[in-house]
Amino acid sequence: MTSSAPVLETENLVKVYGKGASRFDALKGLTFEIAHGESVAIVGKSGSGKSTLMHLLALLDQPTSGVVALEGDPITDLKPKQISALRNDTFGFIFQQFFLNPNQTVLENVTLPLKIAGVSKSERNRRGMEVLEQLEMDSKAKNKATDLSGGQKQRVCIARALINKPSALFADEPTGNLDSNTSEIVEDILFGLHRDHGITLVVVTHDEDLAARCQRRLIMQDGEIVREEHGVQSTDQGVTA
Ligand SMILES: Nc1ncnc2c1ncn2[C@@H]1O[C@H](COP(=O)(O)OP(=O)(O)O)[C@@H](O)[C@H]1O
Ligand SMILES: [Mg+2]
Repeated sequence: MTSSAPVLETENLVKVYGKGASRFDALKGLTFEIAHGESVAIVGKSGSGKSTLMHLLALLDQPTSGVVALEGDPITDLKPKQISALRNDTFGFIFQQFFLNPNQTVLENVTLPLKIAGVSKSERNRRGMEVLEQLEMDSKAKNKATDLSGGQKQRVCIARALINKPSALFADEPTGNLDSNTSEIVEDILFGLHRDHGITLVVVTHDEDLAARCQRRLIMQDGEIVREEHGVQSTDQGVTA
């Protein structure tokens, strides 16, 4: 194994929303690292700052102060265009709300990031079908995105997140809208990608089973990481939380 910079590092990361009387300190100075190929769960009560942190890590939002570094390079100095190019090349995103375009087909939804990147239609469709096959959704390629179950929609979102061959996947409550059987299928897909392709996984979740399957858990409370747990806990059913 070659040693290299962590895929992501933060230093004294602060996020403040609003001003004056409506000021809210959502993140209060977080410093930590995420290694290449690691699976990390960000857990904590609603309002503790999980999504805020994920948005900063994924370069979807800017901190009020502090640094996010990608591969050892602080992104603070980059121009917005450079940041979005970096984000599109390096990251994939999966959210609780599926954010699929209901008027487009599954294939069109999945290949949207390539369209934005200016890839030709034939190449888009070739790669779209490849990734839909990987998720066993190729038979639904021509369906409208609305004609799918919740689990199928989330698989389409995972396919879309993978289309750029990202080195890291960010998932915010990826099983939040799914029943427990479907959640398990989606989890198996995510951890399969992590195991077989070395993708770094950063998962925000309330789901204790999902968190337990990650190699590390960052426990958040009121904008701070109050505890860290290491090691996959268990993937067995019926283990008490
Ligand atoms: N755009 C915003 N403006 C003001 N407050 C916000 C904004 N986004 C989030 N917050 C507040 O910051 C806190 C953390 O939010 P969030 O990161 O979404 O928490 P979590 O994902 O853990 O539920 C919450 O109290 C929320 O109300
Ligand atoms: Mg959230």
